[in-house]
Amino acid sequence: MSITGRPQDHRSFPASLAGDSDLAGGFPPGFLWGAATSAYQIEGAVREDGRAPSIWDRFVARPGAILQGQTGEVAADHYHRMEEDVALMALLNLRAYRFSISWPRVLPQGTGPVNERGLAFYERLVDTLLARGIEPLATLYHWDLPAALEDRGGWLVRDTAQAFADYAGVVARRLGDRVRWWITHNEPWCSTYLGYALGIHAPGLHDKQLAIHAGHHILLSHGLATQCLRSLLPRETQVGIALDFYPVYAADERPETLAAVQEADVFRNRWFLDPLFRAEYPEALFRALDVTPPTLQANDLAVIATPLDFLGVNYYSRMLVRGASPESAAASSRKPSYEVIERVPEASYTDMGWEIFPEGLEAILTRLHREYAPKALLVTENGAAFEDHWHGGTSVHDWQRLHYLQLHIEALSRALSQQVPLKGYMVWSLLDNFEWALSYSKRFGLVYVDYSTQRRIIKDSGLWYASFIAAQRR
Ligand code: FCB
Repeated sequence: MSITGRPQDHRSFPASLAGDSDLAGGFPPGFLWGAATSAYQIEGAVREDGRAPSIWDRFVARPGAILQGQTGEVAADHYHRMEEDVALMALLNLRAYRFSISWPRVLPQGTGPVNERGLAFYERLVDTLLARGIEPLATLYHWDLPAALEDRGGWLVRDTAQAFADYAGVVARRLGDRVRWWITHNEPWCSTYLGYALGIHAPGLHDKQLAIHAGHHILLSHGLATQCLRSLLPRETQVGIALDFYPVYAADERPETLAAVQEADVFRNRWFLDPLFRAEYPEALFRALDVTPPTLQANDLAVIATPLDFLGVNYYSRMLVRGASPESAAASSRKPSYEVIERVPEASYTDMGWEIFPEGLEAILTRLHREYAPKALLVTENGAAFEDHWHGGTSVHDWQRLHYLQLHIEALSRALSQQVPLKGYMVWSLLDNFEWALSYSKRFGLVYVDYSTQRRIIKDSGLWYASFIAAQRR
């Protein structure tokens, strides 16, 4: 095992960045401090032990789809290094680990026969985590639909929703006695809009109308899976979903801009939130996108709004918008009717080009609590890509990521002081990994991965996080 850097190294940081900073107090005992990953981004071993392809295995094979034609075939080789990676989590003092289960590893054809070896991998992972006192949080869908289901229509057909609930049942029967936290879907907005409308994620389609249908079936699959999990799992089990949020801000005070804020919010935040918590789609969504609503069957919205134990919040940045002037709006029928401001003077950006805006995390958490009142909230992803440099030694100095984490943890503490029922925080990500269309060019890890040797090196941000967690009350 090649783990370098030890948590006590934090003593070489400036005092304000060490674990005994002001941040140490104020978090409830039992708060879940963790990190997150997803199957296709870290596992590799795409053809091993009976796993069948997912839509991502197909998508990465398309010329031009992925930066430099890279794939997740090897990724961070986690499938073969699971024990080593859990040992790293223990060194980082993680109390929780959010991972995703690859549907085509468990059910290669999406439905039907269970692949015992696939399921056994996740069982070993869960047992290894528990043996180290790390709480497992399992995500059932982080974008890797079995290709066999895509051949039968994928998320564009209703049957896939039932297939997902059946898959949830298979996993729950095996792991439900040990996994207490379940997340049905990760970021349905991305699987839907990036996959079906913008074509930059699998399955790579370019049709907004199809995105609406896919999104509806994904929501339905969530509701059906939630009901299935509830029927199988012990009462104290926590079932939720992870949505990606971009709080929307106005670039000026013009009425067109204030209207644009509402429009962008419906599109980016409320599309999935409202059906889940209010059993309705936001009225303006379909008009703004210039599409027709999905075909609803009698109980769909009630199923989708099956009560949840928690809402997972993935937060990276905000959206700043400016409304089109009435003249230019009239002159063009183009949607949306606003401009997203990509560069804010004096703001800092991550390597993804995302503005660093920790206030947005506080804002979204307090807003969700106020307007949607989920029983509990969990930050299921937050983190930053920066260009890291490893010089072959035992350290990676990523002070920008470290600072990013501190600012966002401070935002959590402000949200907590406003009575937000926040239960945990997962850094994206444990390891550098396959960042979808941008492949390995973006590094998000607390741990650096040297892809040519698969050596892992804990970055300064990881050392800081370890000492910060250690300073918390249990
Ligand atoms: C989120 C995804 C995650 C990762 C981060 C950077 O949208 O859920 O897999 O790619 O962004």
